[in-house]
Amino acid sequence: MKVLIFWDIYWRIWRNAFLKEYKDLVLKYSPDFIIANIENISSWRWPIEKHIKELDNKCDIDVYTSWNHIFDNYFDIKDYLDRDNSKMIRPANYYENEFNYFPWKWYKIVEKNGKKLLVINIMSKTFMKDDVYNPFLKINEMLKEIDLSDINGIIVDFHRETTAEIYALWFFLDWKVSFIYGTHTHIQTNDELIMPKQTGILTDVWMSWPLYSVIWVDYESIKHRFLWGVLWWKMEQCLDKNYVVSWCLVEIDEKTKECINIEKIRIRWTL
Ligand SMILES: [Fe+2]
Repeated sequence: MKVLIFWDIYWRIWRNAFLKEYKDLVLKYSPDFIIANIENISSWRWPIEKHIKELDNKCDIDVYTSWNHIFDNYFDIKDYLDRDNSKMIRPANYYENEFNYFPWKWYKIVEKNGKKLLVINIMSKTFMKDDVYNPFLKINEMLKEIDLSDINGIIVDFHRETTAEIYALWFFLDWKVSFIYGTHTHIQTNDELIMPKQTGILTDVWMSWPLYSVIWVDYESIKHRFLWGVLWWKMEQCLDKNYVVSWCLVEIDEKTKECINIEKIRIRWTL
């Protein structure tokens, strides 16, 4: 089966460009499932319900994965996210105990045409602000608890900063999952690999954003940080018309859950 993975369809005009081109892109690759990390779809903060619904209505994305600043506006949108038919999952390793309760899903099994895909979202402890459970141990527990008997593929979105950590997790999960990919660092890496046994990796899928920007920010509004040491200057969205969409296409053997192929894709448009 083929799984198409996007991450970070970035804000306003790039979100609109993505929606405009989405159908052609999907027709070209005809994936069985589509996953998108939508960390910054409404801004660099939390996505608003209107934009998630827009994606729901205009795209056939099966699972939305999430990120580090996920609880910024959680209470504004939690009713939507807690619905049974919500496609969004949160990182699985936030604390859950008698003092907090997040009913919102932390993994999702999607089924189409007799194929079942398990998607897990997990977050790193290294260089991230939020404190979370150990991702290695948490995912190990989850894979023991979830019934995997009729699952055809397992994909993990690891929201993290460092390359070493995702590589260590890749070794740890070899034979246990089909593919692990990184989000959060905003640069597509050239390291797609498949273990001799089973599991594939891509350290970062990259984002969909204005090409000539400083990670979506207009250079003129961020240069003060570097040239003056001023951190309070307001960052402005870059409005450059050159836009790039990046994604990867993963092929999984439905019988063995083995990763067969990983293809990085990068497409440029001018609006
Ligand atoms: Fe992030």
